[in-house]
Amino acid sequence: MTNDPMPLLGYDYIEFYVGNARQAAYYYRTAFGFDVTAYAGPETGVRDRSSYVLEQGELRFVVTAGLHPDHEITRHHHLHGDGVKDVAFAVPDAVEAYEVALERGADPYRKPETIESDDGTLVLSAIRAYGDTIHTFVDRSRYGGVFLPGYQPHHLPAPRPAGFTHIDHVVCNVEHMDEWARFYADVMGFTQLHHFDDEQISTEYTALMSKVLWDGEGRIKLPINEPAEGRKRSQIEEYLDFYRGPGVQHIALATGDIVSTVETLKAQGIQFLYVPGTYYEDLRERLDWSRMDAEIDRLAELGILADQDDEGYLLQIFTKNVQDRPTVFYEVIERHGSRGFGVGNFKALFEAIEREQALRGNL
Ligand code: FE2
Repeated sequence: MTNDPMPLLGYDYIEFYVGNARQAAYYYRTAFGFDVTAYAGPETGVRDRSSYVLEQGELRFVVTAGLHPDHEITRHHHLHGDGVKDVAFAVPDAVEAYEVALERGADPYRKPETIESDDGTLVLSAIRAYGDTIHTFVDRSRYGGVFLPGYQPHHLPAPRPAGFTHIDHVVCNVEHMDEWARFYADVMGFTQLHHFDDEQISTEYTALMSKVLWDGEGRIKLPINEPAEGRKRSQIEEYLDFYRGPGVQHIALATGDIVSTVETLKAQGIQFLYVPGTYYEDLRERLDWSRMDAEIDRLAELGILADQDDEGYLLQIFTKNVQDRPTVFYEVIERHGSRGFGVGNFKALFEAIEREQALRGNL
């Protein structure tokens, strides 16, 4: 779209601030099947942090840890635990993206910076989003270096890739959903793709509301969750308590073959939420299996969920939290036409989450 005031080309990377980047990189490499491709740290002239770049398909994650107790990264980790700091977008013009965002009400985080080096020209800028999360705008169209200046190639291929292709969506938990839905509409020109209210997303115990904002083209989809009044503490409140504020709740990673991806992840130690057998008895009746290229017995063995709508179907599964605090987790998703989020699975899913929450004494 030529008249889009804030053109975004897609995700550039997602950066996590963690307690130990070396060990986090090992986890994403051996458990999730990412290749380690670049490193920045004291050995590359970066004195205050240690960062590893991880790639799989179009996915690019960065795990970063601070090396000093009073560093901003270390303080972020002290407050939030391991979590997402930066959901970075590739843009055609990082100066203009920043200026337009500020004009439209965003708070600045990093002024546009043009970095010239032997590898070419890189332009970066960043704005604040929910909580301590930021969005960096990256224009690497005239840059040939490895990731960012300060990084050097670091080739550690995954022993067994998991078949992830790209990011499907990135979900945040916030206190005030409408405020952040407005932010993405006003600042980025996003529109609302879906709205789920607490009637649709409630169980006996907890409830939440969710709006899905997207770029209109499907490259970027950002669901925003808010806790709703329930009889007990909702999973969103548990997150907000333990993350100490708003932040990224889960990242959905797309695969073309969820059965083989989940087999690989399980063999490499990833744990998923447990789905009871009754879910599949219900699913056999609820979906039109003649319209789907999936075998329900295989899905049941692996605990994969399925949902269907007018446009097609999707298969999905959710990991348990991937760090000590009950905050960030992953979704694995295989889409066949459906642009939905598995609304038919919300109840079964939240009951599974609540079983885990109860084990932690937080329900
Ligand atoms: Fe999701």
